[in-house]
Amino acid sequence: MTQRLDTLRQMREQALAGGGPKRIDAQHAKGKMTARERLSFLLDEASFQELGALATHHNTDFGMADQRFPGDGVITGFGKINGRRVAVFAQDFTVLGGSFSEVQAQKISRIQDLALESGIPLIGLNDSGGARVQEGVRSLAAYGEVFYRNVAASGVIPQISLILGPCAGGAVYSPALTDFTVMVETTSNMFLTGPEIIKAVTGEEVSSEDLGGAFVHNARSGVAQFNAANEQAAIEKCKLLLSYLPQNNTEDPPQVVPHDSPDRMDEALNSIIPEDDTAAYDMRDVLDAIFDAGSVMQVHEQWAGNAICAFARLDGHAAGIIANQPTVMSGCLDIDSSDKVSRHIRICDMFNIPIVTFVDCPGYLPGVQQEYAGVIRHGAKVIYSYCQATVPKLCVVTRKAIGGSYVALSSKQMGNDVAFAWPTAQIAVMGAEGAARLLNRREIAAAEDPKTVEQKFIDEYREKFFNPYRAADVGQIDEVIEPCETRPRLIRALEVLRTKVQTNIPKKHGLFPV
Ligand code: HXC
Repeated sequence: MTQRLDTLRQMREQALAGGGPKRIDAQHAKGKMTARERLSFLLDEASFQELGALATHHNTDFGMADQRFPGDGVITGFGKINGRRVAVFAQDFTVLGGSFSEVQAQKISRIQDLALESGIPLIGLNDSGGARVQEGVRSLAAYGEVFYRNVAASGVIPQISLILGPCAGGAVYSPALTDFTVMVETTSNMFLTGPEIIKAVTGEEVSSEDLGGAFVHNARSGVAQFNAANEQAAIEKCKLLLSYLPQNNTEDPPQVVPHDSPDRMDEALNSIIPEDDTAAYDMRDVLDAIFDAGSVMQVHEQWAGNAICAFARLDGHAAGIIANQPTVMSGCLDIDSSDKVSRHIRICDMFNIPIVTFVDCPGYLPGVQQEYAGVIRHGAKVIYSYCQATVPKLCVVTRKAIGGSYVALSSKQMGNDVAFAWPTAQIAVMGAEGAARLLNRREIAAAEDPKTVEQKFIDEYREKFFNPYRAADVGQIDEVIEPCETRPRLIRALEVLRTKVQTNIPKKHGLFPV
């Protein structure tokens, strides 16, 4: 027995050693932690239960018989984060560049299956050179195992991907199928085809950072939702994000002990909308004043800034926020913000998080580029997502709800449960100038002083429609409220709606307008 125990201990030690001290030093020299260091930073102390630590590949091609490491470049298992159970995998770049093998697929799939069956979140720490070249088609096929399970788990358990090094080739698609991707500035990259291949095919020279670094995917492509200055910060973001999410789609998100009075009214809100209705104000100030102090966590903060998507809390309960941002493109909806908003609506809906929408939107962005790139198709995603969402949906029209933005973001007909408007709301089919020109074209043209006549029609239209009272009169707005009352009003409305039950017509699936 002693000998057998010695053998086991030796094998375990080998597994703990990863690719050996030299490669670990190289990993540290790049400013990266090892897979095990990352796991101990992520998980509660002594909570990690490893599975598959001794699995190795059996490939003998390309001298691989001499390159067998227990664990085969990925560490998989279970642990706890702030006392809540999670499943994790962490690729170990020190072992064969973390390259993705058949054994890696078996280990990760096993964890995916157990996470799904147990109804607990899955967190992937990615750091890999992609498909293990020496395994040929077997490593390609292996990706299919993981993708298949990513899709099966989508909408059932939260799936979060941290990109902590290279994530190349097929490796990018597992994160792309998960709910959230967190990247680290300077040390993480995601790309389908690397700089060498791009140079060979197109002649274009580009660095890995410029091709698929954290800035690119957070600010340009929208592939990643979160950016962090270093690995520790990325892991902290992942933990914070989990605090807004339930363990699975049958549960509600955890409630935290409220630390902010539900009756708090911020008087500053009553003067936040500028007198000049073409002037911007920062919607983030509105959100900070309404939600529990310090609870607003933006998603996709650096991408499509004309819309704000966030998680926050109201009296300790998680809420999802969709808001227009008047400081960027006047808060209008375009292709990227439509994608951003619809993704967030779907995330909130699948995890039982009520949605609060703040509307100040002059409409969809007009323009040839937008039309050519399919703003109709992308804009339809917002409508589809709101219509399909069965969680409580509240809206607050702070200022403009013009044309498509009124219908898409706040209309009762699309299932909005409670609609509030501030006295500054403007709910109309189109802007006053456009409306006056369209309706009164002939009178303006025939007038002696067309400018003055046009202004008269503009003023008339504004007087009639640029307020919330017409909409309140026909029941489209439930209540016109003082801005400072918004927090207690939302809290009370959500209290009532917490037990809302709504089901859609059963079907295989609809056609989301992709
Ligand atoms: C096998 C790999 C590997 C891989 C890296 N290594 N990637 N081994 N298969 N895919 C090995 C290296 O040979 C090296 O071993 C060790 O890992 C560390 O790699 P380095 O290159 O020394 O590290 P670094 O300089 O940091 O560069 C990291 C890297 C680079 C940028 C990721 O290794 C790289 O470009 N790798 C290939 C990336 C790629 O094109 N993958 C796509 C595969 S195709 P030694 O022993 O020499 O130190 C794919 C398609 C799947 O994934 C499609 C499915 C849908």
